Amino acid sequence: MVKDGLRRPGLATVLVGEDPASQLYVRMKHAACVEAGIESFHYSLPVTACQSALDAVIDHLNQDDQVSGILVQLPLPDPFDAEQTLRRVALAKDVDGFHPVNIGRLAQKGRTALLPPCTPLGILTLLKLEIGNLAGKNAVVLGRSNVVGMPTALMLVKEDATVTICHSRSENLPAICRGADILVSAVGKPAYVKGDWVREGAVVIDVGISRVPDERSVRGYRMVGDVDFAEVSKVASAMTKVTGGVGPMTIAMLMRNTLAAAQMQQGMQPA
Ligand code: GUN
Repeated sequence: MVKDGLRRPGLATVLVGEDPASQLYVRMKHAACVEAGIESFHYSLPVTACQSALDAVIDHLNQDDQVSGILVQLPLPDPFDAEQTLRRVALAKDVDGFHPVNIGRLAQKGRTALLPPCTPLGILTLLKLEIGNLAGKNAVVLGRSNVVGMPTALMLVKEDATVTICHSRSENLPAICRGADILVSAVGKPAYVKGDWVREGAVVIDVGISRVPDERSVRGYRMVGDVDFAEVSKVASAMTKVTGGVGPMTIAMLMRNTLAAAQMQQGMQPA
């Protein structure tokens, strides 16, 4: 759709297979598009499809002027090749910020991603709102995934924070976490981070989301973050909740990136 000579931003999602969590996330992204006035398109492929069919969908979306941004929902089922798939998305339409060039630019001094990854961008936005300048802060990131841990750490370095990345082989985790002004947890272990791991006044971002059985819930389960909320909320100066914390920020940043991509494709400076 064209208004005042400008195309309305459009987001295309691509989902392979029928994973219920991925289906839910894609539905939430489309609902946000409706709310934001962004056009949305959806492409579903069966789990039995082949890589060349997925490549053909991406090639088609790369050429379509109505599509400003392309999001391939992750994880892709086996044997799809995530790296090959993400590399195929046109850089200008990489609203997830997962193209190897975008990630590579995040890792380089003096460069920045054309479009930053959404969850890390949401985390950085929350931290800057809460703390202001992050320069010199001690930040500890639990988890080194391509989607959250590693790009979040790289973006914190760009803000001149002093960053420690911890993972499954790290030792003395509680002691390392106690040194953090900023603690970001993205490991997917329910209520893993305890109150005595956190320094008084630290800011804690909980990215984990795990399903745990709960007989009192009509669904028979509830969603729990990585951080023991009851304990840590007594010591942290601010922390995010699960649900309703980082998740909505990720979607908001996806809308932001889709708008920015549409603006850049039409020769405008993104806001
Ligand atoms: N799966 C989990 N988080 C994300 C995300 O931010 N983007 C995509 N494409 N897939 C995901």
